[in-house]
Amino acid sequence: MQHSWEREYTNPTFISKDGKPQEDFLKFLKWVKKNRVRELEGSSILDAGCGTGRNAFYLVEKYDAKVEAFDFAKSAISFAKENFSHPHICFSVHNMKDTLSYSDESFDFVFDIMASFSLSDGDREIYLQELHRVLKLDGLMYVRTLAKEGDKNAQFLIKNNPGDDPDTYIHPTLLSQEKVFSGPSFKEVYEKYFEVVFMERKSGYQKFDGQPYKRNYWNVYLRKNV
Ligand SMILES: C[S@@+](CC[C@H](N)C(=O)[O-])C[C@H]1O[C@@H](n2cnc3c(N)ncnc32)[C@H](O)[C@@H]1O
Repeated sequence: MQHSWEREYTNPTFISKDGKPQEDFLKFLKWVKKNRVRELEGSSILDAGCGTGRNAFYLVEKYDAKVEAFDFAKSAISFAKENFSHPHICFSVHNMKDTLSYSDESFDFVFDIMASFSLSDGDREIYLQELHRVLKLDGLMYVRTLAKEGDKNAQFLIKNNPGDDPDTYIHPTLLSQEKVFSGPSFKEVYEKYFEVVFMERKSGYQKFDGQPYKRNYWNVYLRKNV
């Protein structure tokens, strides 16, 4: 699966290398500013599954944040270092199923933008325990992930190409397992660690072999309150 992402960054079929930050992530940042939920300026941020580094770069440029950004695809991290390097971003190769090297309570914000849906259910528990450990009390997390409700392509893939865990399928081109969450199943998993502050479902398009397919996504804002 790591290998498939390496191939994707070398020869992209659906990711974009244009450097524009993810739109719903920008909406989250606006919400933080508007509601004065937590200071973004100078904050300490973790970008998990950072890909090309486009979102990390935006955070340091706009808010003078200090960002740790990791991805398990070496080709993504090489691209990020070449194109989005900044003295306040540390890019590293890391698999989110492994424990993190950061100290307890070291981040104000954690971003997981379309990254952890490929973890197995068991690995996701370890990952969330680790994110809870490294996030400061009252720190915020933004998660964008695949939604199950109303996604006909997800239903088709789960039926015809099922993965090992419930509500998973094997991605036709990446050949990795992907999980789609219903609203209740997302809450059941994430609320063990975080409070769900805001959750919305939106539609968008994902490419398989150059063809756009309608998919549904969750944008979720979470807070560590214990
Ligand atoms: C759809 S891309 C999103 C990248 C980035 N967050 C963005 O918004 O541009 C998903 C990324 O998650 C990374 N990824 C998937 N599984 C991972 C894992 N277990 N550990 C670390 N990175 C992972 C992939 O290599 C890929 O770069």
